[in-house]
Amino acid sequence: MRMLAVGGTGWLGGHVVRSALDRGHEVATLSRGRSGPAPAGVRALHADRDAAADVARALAGVPVDGVVDTSGYSVAGARSTAEHLAGVGSYAYVSSISAYRDWPSRPVNGTDDPTFTEGSDEYGPMKAASERVLARALAGRLLVARAGLIIGPGDPTGRLAWWLQRMRRGGPVVVPADCLDQPVAFVDVRDLAGWLVECVETRAAGVVNATGDPGMTTYGHLLEVCRDAVGGDAQRPVTWAPRDDAALAAAGVEPWTHLPFWLPAREARAAWAVDTASARDRGLPSRPIEDTVRDLWAWLRERPVDAAPAGDRPRFGLPPAVEAALLA
Ligand SMILES: NC(=O)c1ccc[n+]([C@@H]2O[C@H](COP(=O)([O-])OP(=O)(O)OC[C@H]3O[C@@H](n4cnc5c(N)ncnc54)[C@H](OP(=O)(O)O)[C@@H]3O)[C@@H](O)[C@H]2O)c1
Repeated sequence: MRMLAVGGTGWLGGHVVRSALDRGHEVATLSRGRSGPAPAGVRALHADRDAAADVARALAGVPVDGVVDTSGYSVAGARSTAEHLAGVGSYAYVSSISAYRDWPSRPVNGTDDPTFTEGSDEYGPMKAASERVLARALAGRLLVARAGLIIGPGDPTGRLAWWLQRMRRGGPVVVPADCLDQPVAFVDVRDLAGWLVECVETRAAGVVNATGDPGMTTYGHLLEVCRDAVGGDAQRPVTWAPRDDAALAAAGVEPWTHLPFWLPAREARAAWAVDTASARDRGLPSRPIEDTVRDLWAWLRERPVDAAPAGDRPRFGLPPAVEAALLA
């Protein structure tokens, strides 16, 4: 199949390209050329997808059977590919759980839950509007994968990476006591990428909440898995310093960013409750969390400890002064 990876030079997109090549497809990437080169054996096309004329120029005369789109960051970008790729047999668009209007304050009960309807540049409304633009152009040939949290090797977000690097420093590690039993779920970047390619091959269409099962692990187990993965690389033995939500709030710990993936218990219960029956029905695999964390650590341990997150992504992690106050 002649497959176009829109965003194929990014993190998830890079895994999509590798998977498509492994499965014998002819692959082209479409990107602006800022995030790095396309791998060998791939036809690299360059355009800013926010500019329809640029996309038309880059795609002129390029035969495409199927598309995996991992670079949806604007409605204009969705419009340009919807316009120029409307004839393809299959198009998989990576959206986000953030497209749901009532999430994270309410659970996601299924793919029919309401998504944002008003236009806005904000991430969730932008994803929902992009889905609609693509659905109009590609009726019956569009798969919308509303991804949950993606983790795995190459992760540029610095979220799980912070936990692993913190374990490497060792000593007492502040952990959110009220959240340790909280079920949490993730999707391995390689599982998602390979599955997207298969969906395009089989011309799967519809909407899927593309993340792991709510019962796949808990926050506390994830932290144990991180400690085990770092293992002998830790500079000192790692011990837990559990602090409850009240103590974390009093110390000024910002949910989600200071302790990645932590939300106060009441908010966490709704936010992590995402129905994934659609993903399981469609065969989205879910490898053991131990494998994902081990492979992320293998990638991360070769990198500088203080490496800044890629692009303009926010920096995650507990500020040293806040940590010191919590441990005092
Ligand atoms: N990380 C998560 O947990 C998570 C959760 C839910 C959904 N998602 C979604 O997953 C997708 C993939 O995320 P990622 O972290 O793999 O993305 P990424 O690494 O930032 O890659 C983005 C790709 O899109 C290209 N791109 C960006 N803007 C472009 C433009 N205007 N024109 C043409 N190409 C453009 C980039 O290349 P150039 O910069 O060279 O153009 C790159 O190839 C995104 O759609 C994201 O919203 C992620």
